[in-house]
Amino acid sequence: MRVAIVGATGVVGQTLLGVLSERNFPLREVRLLASGRSIGKQYEYKGESLVVAEALPEAFLGIDIAFFCASGEVARALAPCAVRAGAVVIDNSSAYRMDDNVPLIVPEVNAAEIGRHCGIIANPNCSTVIMAMALKPLYDAVGVKRVVVSTYQAVSGAGIEAVEELKEQVAAFNGGPLKAAKILPTAAAKKHYQIAFNVIPQVDLFAEHGYTKEEWKMVYETRKIFGDDTLQVSPTTVRVPVMWCHSLALNVETHRPLTVDRARELLAVAPGVVLLDDTDNQIYPMPIDFPDRDEVFVGRLRQDFSLPNALNMWVVGNQLRKGAASNAVQIAEFLVKK
Ligand SMILES: NC(=O)c1ccc[n+]([C@@H]2O[C@H](COP(=O)([O-])OP(=O)(O)OC[C@H]3O[C@@H](n4cnc5c(N)ncnc54)[C@H](OP(=O)(O)O)[C@@H]3O)[C@@H](O)[C@H]2O)c1
Repeated sequence: MRVAIVGATGVVGQTLLGVLSERNFPLREVRLLASGRSIGKQYEYKGESLVVAEALPEAFLGIDIAFFCASGEVARALAPCAVRAGAVVIDNSSAYRMDDNVPLIVPEVNAAEIGRHCGIIANPNCSTVIMAMALKPLYDAVGVKRVVVSTYQAVSGAGIEAVEELKEQVAAFNGGPLKAAKILPTAAAKKHYQIAFNVIPQVDLFAEHGYTKEEWKMVYETRKIFGDDTLQVSPTTVRVPVMWCHSLALNVETHRPLTVDRARELLAVAPGVVLLDDTDNQIYPMPIDFPDRDEVFVGRLRQDFSLPNALNMWVVGNQLRKGAASNAVQIAEFLVKK
């Protein structure tokens, strides 16, 4: 395979490069692409030095798979060029996710949809991937009616500049200069707030009815991934001063009864899910523990005594990996197998 990574200098692009190497993805060429600002930057891949070129329409000649790890605008401008050049695009942005002709894929949930692509396959929103992974075994066993979800999202979910912003603010607490925040909650917002020692109840810009775009993505993308328009999702998305991994507190109402013990059994054998649930020994998932893991970790399973057929759980997943890069490479592996 000859692959291109558009946005190769960003946090998702860099993670993707690492994941391709770790998983020994069959590669003849890796073409690193980014904005004109990054021309000539160098990164190592399996001992070889790769030089970044500008992502221009003609950059996709000869490419089989183009991983897009840049903004929605970049994907809208360049993904059609990549498809015209004969590549299959796997896009991490939100540009094409709700397009009817574009499959929105979490391989453990709906891999069968991959085959109906017309050149573009979308990777879902990172919090949505992590939630879908934890819901899937319960959904298959007893049906899921409604999910109330609160997220605790890492700064790396907002890109490389947000990571730098948190680092600078933490350094300032220890006596360094405190610069005004200019990225979080989102670079496109009118106002910016300090994230160090804070939580910000805004991920992405506000949209209809007081919900953010991130929250609406969790509603609509979850329905598309499960192919179930009746599935109700009530989200609150929050940015926390954590470097990697999004955490989610889920309240899941199921169609049919499900005991906590049975839920544990289902989650323990679900592909890509790891059950870490032993409160006697204070075992539960925490973001700090998973800088390099692809699985989604589930713990704190409890019956919800306020509602029939409902349980609570705590879910942690690395949003740069399973929420973006690793999910994209898994999709590419399906394409290679075909
Ligand atoms: N971060 C996450 O956890 C996460 C998870 C799931 C999905 N996503 C999505 O993945 C995408 C990338 O996110 P990120 O967090 O990696 O962002 P990032 O760290 O800010 O990186 C952005 C990348 O886009 C490139 N870029 C900017 N303008 C460009 C242009 N005109 N042409 C080509 N490339 C250009 C940048 O290159 P330069 O260095 O040259 O500017 C950089 O490589 C976004 O759509 C994001 O919503 C992110």
